[in-house]
Amino acid sequence: MVDWNEYAEKYEAVQAGDPIHVRAVEAIAEKVEVSDEGRLLDLGCGTGDVTSKVLEKLPRVKVIGVDPAANMRKVYLKRFGGNPDIEARDGDGLSIPVEDSSIGCVVSHIALHHVLPEKRADCASEIARVLKPGGKLVYADCFTGMVGPLSDRRRQDDIVDRQIGWAKYCLNHGANEKAYVLIRSIPLILAADGEYPTVPEVWIEHLESAGLIDIKLSPIEPAEFGMKIIEAFRI
Ligand SMILES: C[S@@+](CC[C@H](N)C(=O)[O-])C[C@H]1O[C@@H](n2cnc3c(N)ncnc32)[C@H](O)[C@@H]1O
Repeated sequence: MVDWNEYAEKYEAVQAGDPIHVRAVEAIAEKVEVSDEGRLLDLGCGTGDVTSKVLEKLPRVKVIGVDPAANMRKVYLKRFGGNPDIEARDGDGLSIPVEDSSIGCVVSHIALHHVLPEKRADCASEIARVLKPGGKLVYADCFTGMVGPLSDRRRQDDIVDRQIGWAKYCLNHGANEKAYVLIRSIPLILAADGEYPTVPEVWIEHLESAGLIDIKLSPIEPAEFGMKIIEAFRI
């Protein structure tokens, strides 16, 4: 399992070189919908790449960053230090530390694949709980092309091919550190050791069961590496 506390100080620089990361963060910010009075919640906020991009578009929005890793929250707060409208809270996808129906928009980027498969439904319900009626979820993550048992050779090939393809793409763009991270995470995904990416349809089904509607799925290019965005609304 990745220790996010260890990774916090170098995280931003590693991700900044990867054009897919940059495009995903931009695409999330473009899809954010929140009224002037509404609050935005960045679930698994890390060091604040998504929050930062949203603030470029909506400089007055109030943001709550939620993350279980204390060091990621520390770097997040340092990045937005002095902005009284930004706060960081300890929590995760199963326990979001805000009141019911209090959030206009939940954004989440490459965080919810850390939620255990048997807890995904609870996570979807927790997101639905915190959204205001009409509120929006913008959830981007790296998804797989198939589901199956850990020993399934087709699943193993799918994971290895995606990670290696993405790593090569990063190397071609000079993002060497990100390429190494992608390669190092292969055994973690193969063994389901803290990394549980699945097909987007699994999450869409849980979100629908939690009462979210108008669900839309779009790819981040190049699509073959599995980065996709799910948009959904609370009734
Ligand atoms: C790859 S980083 C993504 C950070 C940030 N969202 C970004 O776009 O750069 C994954 C983050 O998810 C957090 N995380 C781990 N498990 C989580 C969970 N169950 N729910 C929410 N966030 C989680 C980690 O602490 C880490 O900060």
